[in-house]
Amino acid sequence: GVVHYHDFVLREKNFTRLCSNKSMLVVNDSFPGPVIRVHKGDTVYVNVHNQGDYGITIHWHGVKQPGNSWSDGPEYVTQCPIQPGTNFTYEIIFSNEEGTLWWHAHSDWSRYSIHGAIVVYPVNGTTYPFPTPDGEEIIVLGSWYEINVNAVVDEDLRTGGDTPRSVAYVINGQPGDFCNCSKESTYRWVVDYGKTYLVRLVNAAMNAELFLAIADHNLTVVGMDGNYVKPFVTGYIMISPGQTIDFLLTANQTLGHYYIVAHQYDTARPDVTDYDQMNASAILMYSGNYTAPGIPIYPSQLPAYENHTAGDAFVARLRSLANEQYPVDVPMNVTTRMYITVSMNQILCSPPTCAGINGNRLASSMNNISFLNPDMDILQAYYSNLSGVYTPDFPSWPPTMYNFTEYDPPFNVTVPIVATKVMMLNYNEEVEITFQGTETLNASEDHPMHVHGYSFYVVGSGVGNFNNVTDSLTYNLVDPVQLNTVRTPKIGWVTIRFKANNPGVWLWHCHLDRHLSWGMDTVMIVRDGGTPETSLRSPPPYMPKCKVPFSHWIR
Ligand code: C2O
Ligand code: CU
Repeated sequence: GVVHYHDFVLREKNFTRLCSNKSMLVVNDSFPGPVIRVHKGDTVYVNVHNQGDYGITIHWHGVKQPGNSWSDGPEYVTQCPIQPGTNFTYEIIFSNEEGTLWWHAHSDWSRYSIHGAIVVYPVNGTTYPFPTPDGEEIIVLGSWYEINVNAVVDEDLRTGGDTPRSVAYVINGQPGDFCNCSKESTYRWVVDYGKTYLVRLVNAAMNAELFLAIADHNLTVVGMDGNYVKPFVTGYIMISPGQTIDFLLTANQTLGHYYIVAHQYDTARPDVTDYDQMNASAILMYSGNYTAPGIPIYPSQLPAYENHTAGDAFVARLRSLANEQYPVDVPMNVTTRMYITVSMNQILCSPPTCAGINGNRLASSMNNISFLNPDMDILQAYYSNLSGVYTPDFPSWPPTMYNFTEYDPPFNVTVPIVATKVMMLNYNEEVEITFQGTETLNASEDHPMHVHGYSFYVVGSGVGNFNNVTDSLTYNLVDPVQLNTVRTPKIGWVTIRFKANNPGVWLWHCHLDRHLSWGMDTVMIVRDGGTPETSLRSPPPYMPKCKVPFSHWIR
């Protein structure tokens, strides 16, 4: 592969959206940030210069980085933040990913302003498993906040309140046509009649699964999370935060202007009804001489807010290519099986320290462990055999069995243990994990679960409590989709499988930042396989120092 070099300069910059001005920390003065383009198998060095006033880390979402956790990015998991006035060079090793991925900050909530797309083209001289498109387009969906999010999140976590909602969603940085003061700056994509485009869609929104549709145009989904899928034609897309979807669009409609609309799919807060908070819009415009109507056509195929049936229907259509050229390799002899609940929780305390639900502080958990970030990174502790930073006893089964999807489960299961517990796996183990959504605090919602360093096969999913006897019979082991971020459906479960063939320290977490900062995460350590190629590399000569006070989070 080819080696590429980039400089990412992090600097505060003023942006005007929704009639007001605010400063945000961004990369190379742009929001969203620069696109990294590589071919499969390339290596990229990104030198991150932090000229902001708080520590930052960057993660290369979906890039497996074989043996190279050192450049993976999550704060206090694989590194400590890059402090203001310093720099750090990431080495990003592309192996078998092909399609669209993305990069984002992985410290505090900084990713709301610090993110961008990664495009991985097929190896030089080879091509896509579909006819070569005439053009390409990148669509990054994001969240817009009026406030300084990190300050508010800190305060919320400290006092135990809720974390903030974005005031709008954005398409390539713009809220669009439906919001005050943002009509003029609406993102516009110009297409030529008759041409077919490959659209690379990223959901970089902080806390929302989104539907997306383009008026009067069908979308042919061809890839997801850096893997190809069996092409299927759809009128809309449902995409969870963290996920990427590649689709083809043929500009074959009457010359005109068509709305591209992204619309909130699910929220635990039905009180959010403001139209601006639900929609972002952009305009697809045909080139040429014609008179377009004053208002673009609205996408009639866009499902309504909270339409879970439409969300489920979209997800159910995802299949791997599973052909000779793109075979699947689903683990068939599972050696480690885990059943992991993902829950909303509360930590008992009282005002004024805590001001959340019942005066308590909100939390989240996996198997009722609310993850506590340690003072130094787990990778360094693991590599240098330091004790006292984490314990290797993440439970592989829920500590208490109860009716997970029953409304209003027992109070005691709403209170998690707060600890730094990690799961240990031997090299090449064949792992199956079932994530079970729960109704604790009567707050079930979808949880998009993401793992670093891996992608996995999604072999099954369903509603209610998982039943090991009957539900495992429904697994698709023939052409399951391969993802790095999977939706655990509200009041339901999802089962994934992967082979633990990437040694190192890898974060597992819900990609809703609210849940991540409340503790819906854990770390998976995969031991070395015994040869240099199957072992965690040694650290680069320089890693950012962990300094006191270590943690920005107070959990
Ligand atoms: Cu998109 Cu932990 O990452
Ligand atoms: Cu979640």
